[in-house]
Amino acid sequence: MIKLILATTLLAGWCAVAAADPQTIVPGAIWPDDRGQHVQAHGGGIIKRGDTYYWFGEDRGQTNDWHLRYVACYASQDLAHWTFRHQVVQARDPAKLGRGWILERPKVYYNVPTKKYVMYAHIDDRRYKVASVAIFTCDTIDGDYHYLKYFQPLGQQSRDIGQFLDDDGTAYLIFEDRPNGFHIARLSADYLDVEKDMCLIPQHMEGGAVFHLHGCYYVIGSHLTGWDPNPNLYATAPALTGPWSEFRDLAPPELNTYGSQSTLALKIEGTQATNVIFMGDIWKPDTQWDSRYLWMPLHIDGPTISLPPPAKWTLDVKTGVVSE
Ligand code: DGJ
Repeated sequence: MIKLILATTLLAGWCAVAAADPQTIVPGAIWPDDRGQHVQAHGGGIIKRGDTYYWFGEDRGQTNDWHLRYVACYASQDLAHWTFRHQVVQARDPAKLGRGWILERPKVYYNVPTKKYVMYAHIDDRRYKVASVAIFTCDTIDGDYHYLKYFQPLGQQSRDIGQFLDDDGTAYLIFEDRPNGFHIARLSADYLDVEKDMCLIPQHMEGGAVFHLHGCYYVIGSHLTGWDPNPNLYATAPALTGPWSEFRDLAPPELNTYGSQSTLALKIEGTQATNVIFMGDIWKPDTQWDSRYLWMPLHIDGPTISLPPPAKWTLDVKTGVVSE
């Protein structure tokens, strides 16, 4: 009996330590939220307000009503522990696109002049022929977002979208334009329109992610292979308008980005270090609710970057220091 109590106490102690493990991120693992449920924020985006990060993404929860499309919002102060806030979109085909309509890759921006949260998402019919963005807005970050409109940005096809906020606060939408390539475009002053093309990169890429570090812009994207992973690529430029370098492999190409696809590059500027997190999705098309996340800090050496093999790591968001 004493042995049993001792073993139980030791196990409980170990579990407590494991659970309290400060900011460990485990690529590819189930990522439990504060309710113990796997985070549903696929193809997502992150914005920071105050000292809190908000993660928005496709909520593909198994118990959702399949007629509706959902976007979930989670909050965190350390990027490792996420509190479920709300299904901020629960939409029933607002653009009348018919059975099997699609809402993917939501990204939220905060517009200072209007004090509105503005969400962009890829909206489409079931054959991906509408190729448009939808806008939803809300007065609070995690309230009910209301559908406003859908359109083709700059009159061009738009499937996968990405989000980029430059250091000066300017907001950009990245969008994949199947016939032409890959746009990085500035939003209008109220964020309710896509106003100006900064560049059209004539490379057929999706899952677009951009970051800016030490005067260099980096763009990351994947090939067009549906839900299957492929070797993601990157290029650099001194300005968003280019000229852009040739595209290079982000990781050994035979490893297909370790089974993931880019969705966002999140820069963390701490008091001691700056790191950029590659956020990727590991899609499971037949069991989408179980799709996983591959988040890893990029290795950055001037204009050369690489995604290291997935392994658990920790981040101190205050100092910016990463440890493995
Ligand atoms: C690849 C895209 O990146 C995903 O968001 C999704 O649209 C799939 N294609 C659909 O096949």
